Amino acid sequence: MHLTPQDHLFVLTGAGISAESGLATFRGSGGLWNGYRVEQVATPEAWAADPELVWHFYSQRRRNAVSADPNAAHLALAKIEEQLGDRFYLCTQNVDDLHERAGSARIHHMHGSLFQSRCTRCNQPFPDKALYETAATLPLCDRCRAPVRPHIVWFGEIPLDMDTIYRKLDRATVLLVVGTSGSVYPAAGFVHIANQRRIHTVYVGPEEPLNREAFDEILLGTATEVLPSLLREDHSNLPHY
Ligand code: APR
Repeated sequence: MHLTPQDHLFVLTGAGISAESGLATFRGSGGLWNGYRVEQVATPEAWAADPELVWHFYSQRRRNAVSADPNAAHLALAKIEEQLGDRFYLCTQNVDDLHERAGSARIHHMHGSLFQSRCTRCNQPFPDKALYETAATLPLCDRCRAPVRPHIVWFGEIPLDMDTIYRKLDRATVLLVVGTSGSVYPAAGFVHIANQRRIHTVYVGPEEPLNREAFDEILLGTATEVLPSLLREDHSNLPHY
């Protein structure tokens, strides 16, 4: 992968970038569903059937995320952003906050965040502090006493702010995809949009994704092996502010 000072970089990350921080990916051995079936914990139907179980599942994930640290791949992306400025955009499917803790600022969580929640009736955001204090039990909204749900996009729901994502993708000259299996749409389709617009596409991960044939370049290796070396390779080509 070769970035020039004129490039606009759109980065899409998935669970694989946080794997080396100790957070399990979804698919594959030791997958994050932790013995749960997806339909049991990550759908509107699951919430309707057993909100306590769903709340418990996300509280557990939140605890894991809090005790994890950003790795060299998160840090490398933050450094690339420092150099590209507004020509950098990071769209993550991850609901952890490791990108932010590494220093990324131009970031969008298309599947929501473990660190936000909202009332199921009035949509009022639930304050973080209270969320930690009541993490074990399902909290109720201060205003209308309806249950508070995780601000997570479940299967069957629409990812957040797709308009901005498509606008940013439209401006990109390079799409860099890291650690996502290519099995969940719409994110798995970004590479096809990029192909139509002749955007250069690069995948980074230890194995080929399901949508492998759509990528111009596949860089096989873990995120921490590959991303810091991209920074070293491209350092001289990037502008300095
Ligand atoms: N570095 C980079 N990639 C890795 C690493 C690593 N160290 N370890 C594993 N991977 C790759 C795997 O090869 C796999 O292709 O990360 C990918 C993880 O794939 P999934 O578990 O399917 O995760 P993801 O693609 O992010 O899932 C998409 O599905 O369940 C929903 O909403 C959830 O956002 C999630 C979406």
